[in-house]
Formats: sequence, structure tokens, C-alpha cells
Amino acid sequence: MVTRHQVLVASNRGPVSYTAGEGGELTAKRGGGGLVSGLSTVKGDAVWVCAALGDGDREAVRRTGGRLDPADTDGQTVRMLDIPPEVFSDAYNGIANSVLWFVHHMLYQTPLEPAFDTEFERQWRSYETYNAAFADALAEDAAEGAVVLVQDYHLTLVPGMLRERRPDLRIGHFSHTPWAPPDYFRMLPDDPDGGVAAEVLRGILGADRAAFLTQRWANAFTECCVKLLGAEVSVGDDGEMVVVHEGRETRIGVHGLGADAAFLRERSRRPDVDERMASLREQIGHDGDGNPRKTIVRVDRTELSKNIVRGLHAYRRLLDDHPEWHERVVHIAFAYPSRQDLAVYRDYTAEVSRVAQEINAAYGTGSWTPVVLHVKDDFARSLAAYRLADVALVNPIRDGMNLVAKEIPVVSDRGCALVLSREAGAFAELAEDAITVNPYDIGATADALHRALSMEADERAERTKRLAAAATALPPTAWFTEQLDALRG
Ligand code: F6P
Repeated sequence: MVTRHQVLVASNRGPVSYTAGEGGELTAKRGGGGLVSGLSTVKGDAVWVCAALGDGDREAVRRTGGRLDPADTDGQTVRMLDIPPEVFSDAYNGIANSVLWFVHHMLYQTPLEPAFDTEFERQWRSYETYNAAFADALAEDAAEGAVVLVQDYHLTLVPGMLRERRPDLRIGHFSHTPWAPPDYFRMLPDDPDGGVAAEVLRGILGADRAAFLTQRWANAFTECCVKLLGAEVSVGDDGEMVVVHEGRETRIGVHGLGADAAFLRERSRRPDVDERMASLREQIGHDGDGNPRKTIVRVDRTELSKNIVRGLHAYRRLLDDHPEWHERVVHIAFAYPSRQDLAVYRDYTAEVSRVAQEINAAYGTGSWTPVVLHVKDDFARSLAAYRLADVALVNPIRDGMNLVAKEIPVVSDRGCALVLSREAGAFAELAEDAITVNPYDIGATADALHRALSMEADERAERTKRLAAAATALPPTAWFTEQLDALRG
């Protein structure tokens, strides 16, 4: 008999993933991130529904029937769905990551793409099937009147589908990405009676509440609802916007997910982080006067929207414009593998390495490596770099929030100057104490790096204090409970 739950979370990627060893044994690895720590507060009566992402996950589902062993999940109740691999791949790689992600981050090179043809139409049907699998599982596991929090662009159709199956539920949808402005969003097939653009909007409007990381993304969503669906928008008594469409109301929320200060401060002081700091310090080395070199740190998934390549070009420009920094600064760039099933991500990853090598070949000396690039994911080493950062470089061309911008000021040992793109969601909360840049402007980013490296220690410390306070204003658990309360209220 199925245990029904009062709180349900649904996301493509779950809190745990499995790898199968040669002897068939499964190893569970728990992921990090805001959602994992947010949900840990509601362990008792909550279930997290996610998809099996790879072969290890599918094997775990086969062995457990999809209800994972709590020993693997730190006590959380997790239901993993084994959606047929071809359907999953069409939905995740084809639609979510190659279409919706590209639309919201405005990544298309429009002379040739997108081209919505039969392949897209087939993949879209898989996306519908994949969303329906989640809606079925949630409908099955939800207690009467339960609260369901659906996450992200992978699951835009779930709120509407779930409402059809279970009108008694309180449904929320949260977008962790930016939202595209209407002129860009309507690149999607946009026949109001059946187009994909309308389907996405209607899917999310199936929720009682649709929430975003910043007001800017919330406004873009409501503008799309008005322009593409003819919906009406008003402001409720509590100050939140309300979208009215086909007689239903969907409230619009904004919750700026913050960094988890307690976790980060404790985790970053453990011995494995100290060890990595020692080896990074060796790689960074000392300048001609025997002082440790300054560091410009960036830590990202190798993600097209993170703008790693222009970051490297800006660093090269800094070295050209300010030869006084030669031998005195090192750019520590961690670019961890992401979405490697997609050729465009593989090409981008190769370009990051190529440009880093080019800079080292052009400027490096026997004693100085200007760019230290690491491409193997290592959380302890990321925290070590955070602690050592003199400057944090966060220059995405577009980003829902960017938690790295919030985490580095919390963890850095001596305070860091933050160079921050005006297109990151974090800009809304951190702009005042950051040095802000247009991410396309290499010259301006190089200037910002120079200013950041030159900032006096006192000013840097003061700014870092204020950045850390703003960055931790809404920690993951509060971010999560705020949404639950809003839905229950
Ligand atoms: O920003 C949206 C998001 O889903 C994040 O929550 C996460 O960091 C990222 O994309 C990861 O994507 P993927 O699951 O494809 O690796």
C-alpha cells in the first residue's frame, strides 16, 4: 500500500545518484545544493520525486521499485522514476537543455537556430510523456490537500497535468532559471491554441503559485502570459502579482535563494579543504618580492551561459593593459563537466581549455602559470579556492541567481572583491557592494578585474561583510519553508 505524503517535491535531478561498480554493486552519491538542504528540514512527511538519470539510477530503481533505501538518502524519502531512456533523453537533452534552457538564457545564434521541425515535434511529445510520468507519480503519492513543489524548466507541464488529476492539491512551481522576455520567448512555436509556448505557460499557470529567483524573471513571466495568452495581471492585497487566465488565478512569488552559511563555514574548515589549500598555494606561488600571488577565482559548471571564455579573454586583456600584474596574479578557473551528451557543451569545454593554454603559452614564465584550470569536479578544492580568493569573477551572460557569487564572500578568508555580471540574478541583491560588469564587454571586465585587484584591504573587508550578509538573507531552509507557508496560507 502506498504511503501518502503531505509535502511533495518534484525535480528532474534528485538528491542522490548511483553508479554501478564492475561487480554490480551500487554506490550512492548524495548531491549538494540548495534544494537538498532545504528539503532536509521537512524529512518526516515529505517525499522527493525525481528521475533516474543514468544506468546506475535505473538499476537502483529496478532493485527497489523506485522507493530508494533511506540509508542512501540520509533518511529522506525519495521516489525515483525510471522513465524509458529514449523518452528521458528527448525530454532532458532535447527539450529541457537544448530548447527551454537556450530560450531562457537567450543562447541561440539565431541565423541558423532554432529550427522547429519534425525532430523537435517528436522530442516535444517525449517531454509531454516525461511530464505526465511525474504528474502520475505525484498524484499517486499525495495525501488529500497536500502541498506539491514542482521545480524548474524540466517540469513546466506538471502543474497543469497534476491539477487535472488532483484538483484538491496545493501546487507550486519554482523556476531556477531566468525567464525570457516575450520577444525571445515567442521564438517557441506560439500558436495560442496549441503552440508549445502557450503550453509551457498554461502548464505553469496550473499551479496556485509560480515562483522565481528575482523580480526581473517574475516580471518577464507575467509579460509572456499577457502577450502570448492574453492573461490579466493584478497585484493582490499581500503585494504579490496575480495572473488571471481562463478563470483561474496563479499567484507569483519571488524567493531569492541564499547561501547556506552554517554549512559552508563548517565544511570549508575541514582537513580535506586545508590539504587542497596547501596544494593550490603551491600552484599559485609567490611574486618577485616573495609575497603570495593574488588570485582571481571562478568556479562554474562548464556551462555556455557562464561566460568562461570571455572571462579568460578579459583576464588576457588585463595582462595586456596592466603589465604590472605579470607574475603577481593567477586566475584560478574551475570549470566542471556538465551536459557532455550535447556536442555544443563538449565544444565549449574544449574552447575553455584551448584559451587557457593559449594564455599560459603567451604570458607564462618558468616560475608563473597565469591560468590554473581544473576540470575535474572536487567540492573540497572549490571551497579551498573560495577561501583563497582575492577576487571572485562571476560574469554569466544570463543566470537565474548564481550561488557562487553568494558563497565566495561567505567563505573567503581575507575578504574578496566580487566582479559581478549585471545579468546574474544575484545582481539584484549584491550589486551595491560588487564591481558590476556588462558580461559581453571584455575591456570593461578587464578594468573591473584591475579595480578589484587594487582594492584596499579595509574596503574589501567591509564590502565582503555586507556581501555575505546579503548573500545569506534567505538560507535554503527558509527559502523552502517560505514557499510552503505561502502555498498553505
Ligand atoms: O539552474 C537550473 C539547474 O537545474 C540548477 O538547479 C542546477 O545547478 C543546474 O541547472 C544543473 O543542471 P543539470 O541537472 O542539467 O546538471
